[in-house]
This record gives sequence, structure tokens and C-alpha cells, in this order.
Amino acid sequence: TGPDTFSPTGQPTGADQAAMAQGGAFLTSAQGVRLRDTDHSLKAGPRGPVLLQDFHLREKIMHFDHERIPERVVHARGAAAHGVFRSYGTAANITRAAFLAEGVETPVFVRFSTVLGSRGSADTVRDTRGFATKFYTSEGVYDLVGNNIPVFFIQDGIKFPDVIHAGKPHPDREIPQAQSAHDTFWDFVSLHTEATHHTLWNMSDRGIPRSYRMMEGFGVHTFRLVNAEGATTLVKFHWKPKLGVHSLTWEEAQMISGVDPDYHRRDLADAIEAGAYPQWELGVQVFPDTPDQMFEGIDLLDPTKIVPEELAPVQPIGLMELNRNPSNYFAETEQVAFHAGHLVPGIDVTDDPLLAARLFSYLDTQLTRLGGPNFPQIPINRPHAPVNDMLRDGFHQDAVHRGVAPYKPNSLDGGCPFHAGAGEGAYVEVPAEVAGRKVREAPASYADHFSQARLFWLSMSPVEREHIIDAYTFELGKCYEQAVKERQLRVLANIDPVLCREVAQGLGLPAPEPSEPLAEPMPSRALS
Ligand code: HEM
Repeated sequence: TGPDTFSPTGQPTGADQAAMAQGGAFLTSAQGVRLRDTDHSLKAGPRGPVLLQDFHLREKIMHFDHERIPERVVHARGAAAHGVFRSYGTAANITRAAFLAEGVETPVFVRFSTVLGSRGSADTVRDTRGFATKFYTSEGVYDLVGNNIPVFFIQDGIKFPDVIHAGKPHPDREIPQAQSAHDTFWDFVSLHTEATHHTLWNMSDRGIPRSYRMMEGFGVHTFRLVNAEGATTLVKFHWKPKLGVHSLTWEEAQMISGVDPDYHRRDLADAIEAGAYPQWELGVQVFPDTPDQMFEGIDLLDPTKIVPEELAPVQPIGLMELNRNPSNYFAETEQVAFHAGHLVPGIDVTDDPLLAARLFSYLDTQLTRLGGPNFPQIPINRPHAPVNDMLRDGFHQDAVHRGVAPYKPNSLDGGCPFHAGAGEGAYVEVPAEVAGRKVREAPASYADHFSQARLFWLSMSPVEREHIIDAYTFELGKCYEQAVKERQLRVLANIDPVLCREVAQGLGLPAPEPSEPLAEPMPSRALS
């Protein structure tokens, strides 16, 4: 029998979809024709030539030949799990997002990843980790596409190809940075000092998490929430793991890379299988939506800056639990498509220029990675809300659309009362004023590249500082170019003289003086 349940776009759903690809008592061809033998080609006699008419051989080999899809251009290696998010309702006064109302439970799918390695790379390398959450809300899909480090390398998304080119394996020998030959990465970050803060987090124990279950997650950018009255608030999102934040030592990480390169994905899957469901509390730092979008002198649109929690405490708004492993890696973990622009009513973006590029990039790359524009129909990507999108046709179109008039208003398909932009519960962008001269330049506030790196360094315990010194010494020690090492030491001098001196000593080089006055540990009034 055929599928009997359909999504609003006419697609078979859930079990029926799976059954279409794998059901019945007999092996069949893709056309559903029962097969007697799939182990032998059709030949002219047992030792004779294979016959061109073997349609089963042709179909089987054709499909195998096309099993691979491009890996993600970044975050290629990942592991994921299903779960549920339960809202406390504490954000209901600042956002009208339905899934953040009190007591609402929303299914989620979370993919953790490394950034730079290929799909087959090791889990415990020193790198930033992705922490991407898809909320299947009653108002459509909301994606919080974050990282385990609260700041980013660059302040403007136009530099994303550049920083990734610098971090990916060397173009000549294809040797990953994490294993050897680090020159391009250190060349980039020493020349683009806005990367200093993120790089310092990478060189700290945060760069080698103990487990995905023990990582914080950060939305990084500042987002704009809108409540039922239309009032707006600026927020930064934080995930706090119930198990606490834990790291590996560098020696552990290296050993595990050899003994069990799948350590993090195994850890996540094993924990869930054993019923030890990992949990994270979602929280927000809340800032008034002032015209300058600054808070205590910190530019909220600069993704290389945090707001210290002493100045804006993280206020818990819900709890996420991951409780089910994917049943098929390719169908779910590989084909899931996150996008920073998957927003629901009550959550809007800000003018952070890094975020702007992301809003373009994710759909663009998925168009290629997932073979055409219909990837929202892949089961893992389908909203758990009715879809009526007027998008039609295209490669891999699974929906059988009804009606003749995919345009609105129309008078032929039952006179649907829908008007674009109108209606209860619709997404409405905050009608913020926009003005300005067209320029290619950064605001003056983006020029501070060292004060928060210094703040981070000063907040470290002695053993954490030791690890950071060892990490810089090891990583820079892998550079061939002396000039790159020396330039990076000049960057370290602007963070802290002890850090610079110790790393210089480890590299056998002189320690340079800072090129600018060391920043006061800011913001001093709230930090002990
Ligand atoms: C993928 C986070 C900046 C482009 C990802 C993923 C995460 C992530 C978590 C993996 C998603 C998954 O698991 O499938 C971030 C964060 C950023 C950032 C937190 C900065 C705050 C950018 C920028 C760009 C970009 C600036 C481009 C201008 C991409 C692309 C992918 C990706 C192309 C691959 C998506 C796919 O193939 O499905 N990012 N990213 N990211 N990111 Fe970002």
C-alpha cells in the first residue's frame, strides 16, 4: 500500500517516508520490481562477458556512484541528536516567540561540529566547535546557529572566505593546520588583529572540549527580540551545560586523536543510548535597544566582543535535553540545513555585518550541497508547522502541489484570503529606521582588538595560563616562517607581557614590547 499521511505540501510524512525507501519483505529494484539475485551480474555464461541489458547492475552501480554529496565548506565534521526544549516563560515579556512562552515544549535537533577539519578528521583537535540548534516551533523553524566560543575571528562577513582559506589545509600539500604547517593561519591572525580575542579562546582549554555534553554554546551576535506590544530588546544567547564546562589537556587530546578519532561523537551517542541525556539551559543577556546599540561602552554589533556576565547576567529562559540519537547519519546529521536567517516572529536580527553575510551564505551553500532549492522538504528540515509557500518545481521536488494559481491574491484556487505580510502570527520585521552614506569602512569602535583578549587572559587561573602559553608555543612552533612567529609575538605583547615573554622564550625568540598601551581590565567597575 502507498503512503497514507501527507504533510500540507502533499508529501508523505514520517514512517511513511521511510517505508517508501525501505519496506516489504523482498529486495526490489528502485522501481519496486522484485529481485532474485543481487550478487551476480547478468552474463553470457558463468565465465562470459557481462551483458549491457543488465538493468539491475546499471541501476545499482549508478546509484552507488552518486552516494557522496559535497561536505560542508566549513563545519564538515559533526555529530547530532534529537531532543526537546522546555521554555520557562521567563522571556515572554521580551519576545512574542510562541516557543518561548511558559511551559511550551518544542522538538529540537542539535548538530555539534568542528570548523576546519574534513568529514573524516579527528574530533579532539584544537578548533572552535559549532553548536547549531533547530527548533521545530509551532510558528515554523527557528535555528540558533552558534559556536562554543562567544566571539568570532572577523568583524565583517566579507572576510569569511579569507579567514577560512587561511585556516584550511595548505593549498600545496593539503596538510591540515591542526597537524602541521601552521603558517597561513598565523599569518592571517597576526595580520588581522581583530582575530586576537577568538584566537586566544582557541589557544585556551576551550579549544579542546572534553565532550560535546560539556560545552557552552553562544549565539555570538546580538539579536533583537520583539514582544507582543512591539517593544524591542537586544539579547545575546547562551547555552549552559548542566554537566559544567570541561576540557581535555593537550596531551589527552592528542592521544585520543590517535586512539579514538571519533571520541566526541561516540561520547554523545553512548551517553544518549545509556539514558544519560545531556541538558543545557538556554539563557539571555538582556540590553536596552538604544539607538547606538552600545552597552557599558561595548559595541553590541561587534562580534569580536563579549559583554561580561558581571555586567549583564545570563538569565535562564528554558532547558534543552537531548534524548534520541539519529537513526540515519546521512538522512539527518548530514542533510540537516541550518540557517541564521531561519527566524520566527519575536526574534529579529541586528546590523552586525558578520551576521549579514551569514544571512546570505547558508542558503547559498546549501543550494549546492543539497542539490537544488528543495532541501527544506528533506524530512529533517521540514517544519512542524503547516507549509504553504508558493515555491514550485525545481530539482528533487517531492511535493505534489495542488491548485493552479501559485500566486496571491488569486481568484482560482478557492479565493484564499492570504495577503503577504498580513495576518495574525505573521513574521514582521522591526520597522527600524535605516540611513547612512554608502561606505566600505568599519566604525571607530571596531578598532579595539586587544582589550577583551587581555580581559580574558587576566581572568584565567595560573594553570589555565600555563596551558595557553604551551598552546601558543606549540602551534607557533609549527610555523616555518620566522616573520610570522615574530609578528604574532607582537600581537601577544599587546595582550600581556608575561604571555608574550613566555611564548617568546619557548620559541627561542626575543620578546617584543607592546605597540599600544595595555588596556585596563575593562569594565573595571564590576570585575573583581
Ligand atoms: C556552517 C556557526 C560565521 C558560513 C556553520 C555551522 C555552524 C556555524 C554551527 C554548522 C552548521 C551545521 O551543523 O550544519 C557560525 C557562527 C558564526 C559563523 C557562530 C559567527 C558568529 C559564518 C560566516 C559565514 C558562515 C560569517 C559566511 C559568510 C557558513 C557556511 C556553513 C556554516 C557556508 C556551512 C553550512 C552548510 O553547508 O550547511 N556555521 N558561523 N558562517 N557557516 Fe557559519
